[in-house]
Amino acid sequence: MQEQLKALEDQALSTISSAHSLDDLERLRVRFLGKKGELSAILGGMGRLSAAERPVIGAVANTVKAKIEEHLQQQRLDLEEKAIQEQLASERVDVTMPGRYLPQGRIHPLQYTMDQITDLFIGLGYTQVGGPHAETNYYNFEALNFPPDHPAQDMHDTLYLEDGRLLRTHTSPVQIRYMETHEPPLRIVVPGRVYRKDALDATHSPVFHQVEILVVGEDITFGDLKGTLSLFIEQLLGKRPMRFRPSYFPFTEPSMEVDIWWETAVGKGRWMEVLGAGMVHPNVFKSAGYDPEKVQGFAAGMGVERLAMLTYNIDDIRLLYTSDKRFLEQFPG
Ligand code: DAH
Repeated sequence: MQEQLKALEDQALSTISSAHSLDDLERLRVRFLGKKGELSAILGGMGRLSAAERPVIGAVANTVKAKIEEHLQQQRLDLEEKAIQEQLASERVDVTMPGRYLPQGRIHPLQYTMDQITDLFIGLGYTQVGGPHAETNYYNFEALNFPPDHPAQDMHDTLYLEDGRLLRTHTSPVQIRYMETHEPPLRIVVPGRVYRKDALDATHSPVFHQVEILVVGEDITFGDLKGTLSLFIEQLLGKRPMRFRPSYFPFTEPSMEVDIWWETAVGKGRWMEVLGAGMVHPNVFKSAGYDPEKVQGFAAGMGVERLAMLTYNIDDIRLLYTSDKRFLEQFPG
């Protein structure tokens, strides 16, 4: 019987050593140590032993049982450790791997330029206001001192609506609307979209953008206007060659235009007109209900597309209206 026990021990230890899983181990435990297991089967023959042999065999059986249990336990620990190592290897996370970024939207270069211009004037104490895009002839032309049916209106090829209104050809009508409802002194900045019956080409678009400014008060001079515009241009574009050129607008007297030198290639370039400006015409004050003897003012209207083209060196206005991401992604915003 002792030999049987010894054989059982040898077999159990070697089988347990080659167990591959915790399930295998459990099966082996039942097979060797279970109630109906091999150890019990051997011990079932104890009844045939003499009283002297029994305790000897009993002691051997206990030792065998303890050895098998110890071996099962050791193999369990080994398998568990192996499982953890395998899991660590297969689920390993590289914490240094860069994350995946979602593409980020950005502000369109045109809107960005318009915001920059507007913010600059807000920084100088101007109030931002807006007005309707569908305007009346009165606000767009008459109140701004365009004589009725005068060719000056042809300067603005106008898009008319069926109800007799028109799509505003500039942001200047907001000057009248604001003065009608506010007392001087005032400083306003009016960014917005304007419309003209122009065909789309490299330098024209039927829909474009302006930023209007208007300052009204006592003792406002042409010098204030020049100073304001010089500061504005320098802030937006940096120091660039610029010139003030006499011009004509019905709503200002005197009137001027500002040109910026645009270097298109080394040693090559041309002047680009970017804004119109002037001292508010007395008739405009009268339209708005102000006394031209008591207040003066200056006004200006900037072309946003042109300023954006100068800022970003874009030579075709149509590029500003594409939704081509490869183009748009080149700009800040
Ligand atoms: N409204 C003019 C245009 O669209 C631009 C302009 C010129 C606006 C002179 C002004 C100004 O306020 O004083 O061509």
